[in-house]
Amino acid sequence: MHLHVRDGEMMRLVTPLSAAYFAGAVVMPNLVPPVADVEAMKKYEGRVREAMGKQNFLPLMTLFFREYGEEELRRAKETPGFFGIKLYPAGVTTNSDAGVSDVLAAESTLRVMEELGIPLLVHGETHGFVLDREEEFLPAYRALAEKYPRLRVCMEHISTSASLKLLEEYENLCATITLHHLLLTLDDVVGGKLNPHLFCKPIAKREADREALLAAALGGSEKVMFGSDSAPHPQEAKECCGCAAGIFSAPVALPRLAQLFAQHGALEKLQAFVSDNARRIYGLKVPGKVVVLRDEVMAVPECYRGYGQKVVPMDAGENLGWSVVGREE
Ligand code: NCD
Ligand code: ZN
Repeated sequence: MHLHVRDGEMMRLVTPLSAAYFAGAVVMPNLVPPVADVEAMKKYEGRVREAMGKQNFLPLMTLFFREYGEEELRRAKETPGFFGIKLYPAGVTTNSDAGVSDVLAAESTLRVMEELGIPLLVHGETHGFVLDREEEFLPAYRALAEKYPRLRVCMEHISTSASLKLLEEYENLCATITLHHLLLTLDDVVGGKLNPHLFCKPIAKREADREALLAAALGGSEKVMFGSDSAPHPQEAKECCGCAAGIFSAPVALPRLAQLFAQHGALEKLQAFVSDNARRIYGLKVPGKVVVLRDEVMAVPECYRGYGQKVVPMDAGENLGWSVVGREE
């Protein structure tokens, strides 16, 4: 429910890796320039479809949040393939410079979105101290949830137990959780040798946060959905001074999740986390797809190459305990 497939050559390399394992994905709009009108979105959808090839996969397209007029929102709503609007506070993450400075100032846009049933997907971080950014944003989520009670607000890639608590308070809030926030803490990123491939926004937090997120996912909490936030950057943009934020997890996401759920004896909850909850929350009609996972080794490549691109995945060079062994379209 949260995927970056980029554009151009990188898109051609990474999109098939998601389309192979998933029936659909919410495609993020933070290109340069951002996808901020219906025409650009339709064109981008066309390029994504071309990149994914003949696989059974539904790209759910998003617009980059700005002030939109009612007509534009109605048009978006009527456009096949349109899913929702992604809000980035200005400058908090990769390609978010065109984001908003005050979330609640865009009143008329939010009101019409509420009226039309257009979901608002939010990157909820402030510009504060890096470990506190998500918690500092919680009052803005609260204000959105209260002021627009029928607006579906998704707290994207939550990384703290405080976010889980807030989620329970408001019916109109839901959340995505990444694989990496279920597995990692800040120690994995900077506690030993610095690992640029695990650097992302929001940064992985404390063990107590990881445990709370994992308990929500494994426990089948109905308000949380898997969103990989797989965010590929070229190897040279990660392994350098000034490392870009983003973890490329798409190729390992499903097997690694299966391994994690199996380790905790919770495999029967995996379907809810990766699919059923999202379908129910958003009333989604994504074509069915059966993916067969088995506890057989998956050797993760050191990197994925193609179209002049080279990108390093999460768990590069490792052996995972589970793999995808078959598919039925
Ligand atoms: C994402 C990216 O690279 O586009 N990076 C990240 O660290 N997650 C943007 C985002 O989702 O914040
Ligand atoms: Zn993202």
